Amino acid sequence: MLRGSGNAYGFFAILLHWLIALLILALLTLGYIMTRPDIDPALQFSLFQWHKSFGMLVLALALVRAVQWCMSVKVAPVATLSALERLLSSITHKLLLVLGVLVPLAGWVIASVSPLGIPTFMFDLFVVPHLPLAQSEGAETLWSEVHATLAYTLLCLIVLHALAALYHHLWRGDDVLMRMLGRRRSPPREKRS
Ligand code: HEM
Ligand code: HEM
Repeated sequence: MLRGSGNAYGFFAILLHWLIALLILALLTLGYIMTRPDIDPALQFSLFQWHKSFGMLVLALALVRAVQWCMSVKVAPVATLSALERLLSSITHKLLLVLGVLVPLAGWVIASVSPLGIPTFMFDLFVVPHLPLAQSEGAETLWSEVHATLAYTLLCLIVLHALAALYHHLWRGDDVLMRMLGRRRSPPREKRS
């Protein structure tokens, strides 16, 4: 169960999936709130530091997840899925894996190219070094737009992905959601017409 098998996710894959999902949803909310123009500057500074700390944590976890995904035995799609559903879910999962790395990476680039040079205090424990990139206002604006666009694209994909999981669970009655919750397989119900 720890390692997973052809039709079940292992404990670490499930733990990483839900931990990263929770953190990303919190970061999307935090990112939106902290960039509102009418926010108190002291609160904004503190929220930015929390955002950057949890964002760097997601970057580390998403890299572990991507490596684990590449190296582990692939879990086969639920048997009742059509060829189109298999294709769409495979594309969505790969995009989620890639965006889970690219979004925080783009955030790290903003912090690195900003002429303000504000350090990223990782949970007040240590300073995350800036990437070796040239600092300029133009680069900060560009990377802020890239980060926001990728983050909101990720949000759209997550909404589709979560709706698909709910559809499979509530409407199709198959194992798609249950196996990501670590539950045992149950016999598939008849498809509703
Ligand atoms: C998966 C992880 C992350 C998510 C989902 C995320 C999401 C967001 C969102 C939704 C915004 C608001 C965009 C807007 O409405 O303009 C934002 C802004 C920002 N994020 Fe992230 N972020 C993540 C990781 C990071 C990391 C690791 C850093 C830096 C170390 C970072 C630095 C920033 C900064 C500096 C802004 C403000 C940009 C501006 O001034 O417009 N983010 N983020
Ligand atoms: C918040 C609501 C979410 C729900 C309800 C959800 C549900 C699920 C379910 C049920 C599966 C299994 C699909 C299958 O076995 O065919 C799955 C897989 C997956 N999810 Fe999510 N998920 C959510 C959020 C996320 C987020 C935020 C990410 C990453 C950014 C993500 C990335 C993935 C990936 C990469 C897989 C494929 C796993 C693999 O093949 O090893 N999910 N998700």
